[in-house]
This record gives sequence, structure tokens and C-alpha cells, in this order.
Amino acid sequence: MDLNFVQVFTPYFSSSSNPIVFPSAKFNMNSQTLIETAQRLVADNKGLLAMDESNPTCNKRFAKLGIPQTVDARRAYRELIITTPGLGESISGVILYDETIHQHKNDGTPFLKVLSDAGIIPGIKVDTGAKDLAGHPGEKITEGLDGLRERLFEYFKLGARFAKWRAVITVGEEIPSRGCIEANAHALARYAALCQEAGLVPVVEPEVLMDGGHTLKRCGEVTEEVLRSVFAQLYTQRVMLEGMILKPNMVLPGLTCPVRQEVEDVAIGEQQFQVRLTDREPDEPDDVEEVADATVSCLLRVVPAAVPGIAFLSGGQSGEMASIRLNAMNVRFKSRLPWALAFSFARAIQQPALEIWRGQAANVIMAQQALLNRTRCNRAARRGEYTAAMDEYKREQPWNPKPI
Ligand code: 13P
Repeated sequence: MDLNFVQVFTPYFSSSSNPIVFPSAKFNMNSQTLIETAQRLVADNKGLLAMDESNPTCNKRFAKLGIPQTVDARRAYRELIITTPGLGESISGVILYDETIHQHKNDGTPFLKVLSDAGIIPGIKVDTGAKDLAGHPGEKITEGLDGLRERLFEYFKLGARFAKWRAVITVGEEIPSRGCIEANAHALARYAALCQEAGLVPVVEPEVLMDGGHTLKRCGEVTEEVLRSVFAQLYTQRVMLEGMILKPNMVLPGLTCPVRQEVEDVAIGEQQFQVRLTDREPDEPDDVEEVADATVSCLLRVVPAAVPGIAFLSGGQSGEMASIRLNAMNVRFKSRLPWALAFSFARAIQQPALEIWRGQAANVIMAQQALLNRTRCNRAARRGEYTAAMDEYKREQPWNPKPI
């Protein structure tokens, strides 16, 4: 490892006469580079495009559409994404997977050159996945700290300027446990500190999963507890908050939460009545406003103002719903928030394009149009100017594939 390089990028991890000085107070030029990169990632109402699906996840999505699960099919798909004309208008950075960061276009141009020509900052997923957490049935711990310092320096040398690590928190009966939250928060903070040492902006992703029948309220409570632990650990590990991005989930009801069946027993005199608490579809405007309010009030309670940006994951919401909800947050709160509310979506940007492409070269241009449209929708949502009509256009096109 190049030790000069380490020194250059370890401004506030080096010995200090006062070990409890908050590191953010000790900015220097290299901290400044991290801060500028973090700010660029959320500037101009742009956001991140996550295209860092691991090979097994990418293969699973390909298999559903009958696309061959091969290195070359994955390469062709990623080429389609990064060569989309106009991608850089709405996308500030893309998150790559280890296989992808080394790949080239069919004509031999490295993917990293394509991205830099488009003014897009390359990032890299560096965790090695979520494994069962010993002693905690049903819970996961994200791994990948072993050898991470060396891997980060290699990625920096290749051209990456930010990195991502995803922790997953499952909601269920009696979970998440303190043990799971603390182990994941600690790993996220160790990863983030190593990233900053290497000159990479950490994108810190603690994802409270949508799977399950929990209510929106419960998701809010769990998200708040998780984020409190994450920021406590980031502080303890001396992570410079100005040089990072938070990538959280939105506060949502679980996928199988019986929203419309929520009932309460009410007694009037001698008689008992069952009163339905909600009488609307989950995607109706009230739900959107409720999600926006719950998400932003949770974040305001726990995310320090020094963090430049919050870039949500989509987590299995449809593309339209992710945009509607991000839009509602920006419409209602943007002018009053200390950080930018942005996006770092994978499925909510890619899904229509993948369904159109289906592994066929003849579909590439149409798939790129769909991808570009979804990126524009999300940029509009950052401005609070998204309307569902922006997604309607695809229904007019003859190439619209049948829903699967
Ligand atoms: P989704 O937007 O599909 O949730 O993916 C975001 C991501 O990067 C998951 O780690």
C-alpha cells in the first residue's frame, strides 16, 4: 500500500492530543475533497442510480424475464444503462458492482471512461452481503470489513469516488433486536471511516425492510432507533458527517400490512361497534402525505444537519410510488430542511428498462428511453414537480411490453 497516500487521506485519524475532539472540526484539503464530492452527489436536483446488484440478485431478475444469466448478458445490460444518452442530466453518480467496474463497452471503452465522459461520478458497492447473525434467528449482519482498507484503495486508484454498504434490518415479532441494530451500526461506521481514509465518500445504507405486516408507525419507530444507533457509531468512529451521504428507507407500512382492515372496537353505551380506522387504498394521497410526514419527522429527529444529503433507496416500491413519495416530501418540506432529499434507486429507476430490454439488442433504444424517463421523473420529484403524467407516456408507446 502507498503510505504517502494513506497519510494524505487520513487527516483526522492521525494522532491527536485530544482524542475526543470532534473530527469535523479538523477539516483540511482532503476533507474538503470529500465534502465537495458528497455535495456534488446531491447537487442540481440530481441523484444516484444504483446498478450494483450482486451477480446472484442480477441473475434472479434476469431469470424472471428469460434473460440468460451470463457475464456477457450482465455486461450488455450495464452497457445499456451507462450509455443512455442524457443520463448525466439527472444522475450525479452510479453505484457499480465489482464485476461491472472492471468492464468495457463492446467497442473496448472502459465503463469508467464512459461515466467520466458523461460527468457521472463512479461509486462502488463494497460490502460482501448480509449473512445470518449468530444467536439472532431471522436477523442479518452485513459482512465485508476484512481486507476492506486494501479494496478501498484499489477502487480509489481505479477511479471510484464514493462507496456503498447496505445493512438490512428485518421487522417482525420481537425483532429487530438491540444486538442486530448495534452490530450493523458498528459495521457501517467502521466501513464509513475506512472510506473517508481512502478518499471515498461513504454512502451509509441502513435499510429497514418493507417485508412483513408491520404498520407505518412501527416502521417509523424502528427506523428512528436504527438511525440513532448509526449516528452514535459514526460519531464514535470519527466519521466526518459533512463528507458522507445517508441512504435510508422511507417510513412505510410493511408490504403485507392490512391497512384497510385496521379496525378498533368502540363501545357506545352497552353496544360494541367495530370501527374501521382507515378507508382508503394504500396509494391514495392521504397515504402519500402520511409517509412524507412520518419519514421527514423521523429524519429531522435523528440526522444531524451537517450531513449534506439523504438519498433514499426504493426498497421494492413501484417506480411511480417512489417518485410520488419523494415528490411529496420535497413539496411539503424542501425549503425547511437542512439536507437535500434525493434518491439512490435501483429498481425504481431500472425496472421498466429491464422489462423492455429482455436481453434483446433490438430493444436497447426503447429501454434507454424508459430508463431516462424514470431518471427525469426522480429529478422532477427532487424539485417537487413530479406528476404521474410523466410516467404515463409509456402507455402510449407501441413498444410497451405486457405486464408480467
Ligand atoms: P432499490 O432502490 O431497488 O431498493 O435498491 C437500492 C439499493 O441500492 C439496495 O442496496
